[in-house]
Amino acid sequence: MPQKKKKRVTQQTFRRRRMTALAIIILLLIIIIYSIASSCSGNDKNGRGENSEAIKTEAITTSSVSKTTPVQTGTIIDSVTDSSHTQTSDTSLADDPAIVRSIELTFYTCDLDIGDTVQPYVTMLPDTAVDLTEKWESSDESIATVDWQGNITAVSPGVCFVTVSSVSNPQAYAEVKVNVMNEEGIVPVASQTVSYNSNQNGQTVTTTVMPSTNQIRKINGLTYVQGILIANKTYSLPENYNPGFNSEAESAFNQLSEAAAEEGLDIYLSSGFRSFDEQNSIYNNYVDAYGQASADTFSARPGYSEHQTGLAIDVNTIDDSFDGTPEAVWLANHAHEYGFIIRYPKGKEGITGYKYEPWHIRYLGVEKATEVYNSGLTLEEFLGIDSVYQN
Ligand code: DAL
Ligand code: ZN
Repeated sequence: MPQKKKKRVTQQTFRRRRMTALAIIILLLIIIIYSIASSCSGNDKNGRGENSEAIKTEAITTSSVSKTTPVQTGTIIDSVTDSSHTQTSDTSLADDPAIVRSIELTFYTCDLDIGDTVQPYVTMLPDTAVDLTEKWESSDESIATVDWQGNITAVSPGVCFVTVSSVSNPQAYAEVKVNVMNEEGIVPVASQTVSYNSNQNGQTVTTTVMPSTNQIRKINGLTYVQGILIANKTYSLPENYNPGFNSEAESAFNQLSEAAAEEGLDIYLSSGFRSFDEQNSIYNNYVDAYGQASADTFSARPGYSEHQTGLAIDVNTIDDSFDGTPEAVWLANHAHEYGFIIRYPKGKEGITGYKYEPWHIRYLGVEKATEVYNSGLTLEEFLGIDSVYQN
């Protein structure tokens, strides 16, 4: 009897142990499945199947090539992250931590032989940005192509620029200068420069622009020359481009206005950012009142107004009565010190496409605005572009 009892106890213990073992196995399986699932569905915001945190670390700590990228051939020139190459979005969106403000790359220049492929790593900032979708474009596909993942492939000798921009904020972009070498290992570059003469206080000033620094880049439907966003009769803005009033331009204008006030002058904002729809109704009112040919001399068609960039401001009375006032004279002489230029100067209608507007200023930043001011040129002449409607 005691033996029988002992046997029953052993069976129960065995069953209990078997259940415990089963439970442990199930638990382990759940843990394994969970960890696999979370590593696959993790922070894959860059659309490359790579974890963006991993990319960020890569961008900061090393310029080496990840095993997940294609084999990189060619020479990467500046592999150190350099924020000066990064176009920062400084619109009113900049205050939103969910919006991409700037883009960093692991390199910004590369020398390639035909057939070479390289891929820079991308870091979109700030870390809190939500939509990290990238758009890649090449300024000249006959020299180098780029695919949606940022694989740059050399096609023929020459120089071009590959840009990556944020789809959610097209003003945030970074670019790679791509030098494709010929069989002798030489990169053919345009040797001719473009020169413009202008008259400044009776003296002829010549400004020379290197074509290689003067390339026109189309990024997400926006046109940039020397990093300057262009809106004129030749280069329009997408209808849905709606950045709001640029916060940097706004604060620069406030400083300008305060400085003028110290001189006893009253320079105030009359019109800043205008959306496509607002410009549409303004322009069409003028067309109804004066006819299209006349309206086109002083009002931009919707999609062609600099006001839609958020970087242009009309000050004081927006008509000819402003011309010659102490405020207009002060503005013409000092706007550049605050980063603005008089965008449509007197006598340059044939170049800018618009009659003289002493009240319309455009923000470029102090350095560029001072360069343009000192050149005595319109922005079109300075950048070597035109301003003409196609129809
Ligand atoms: N008055 C300028 C040209 C504009 O309408 O944008
Ligand atoms: Zn204006």
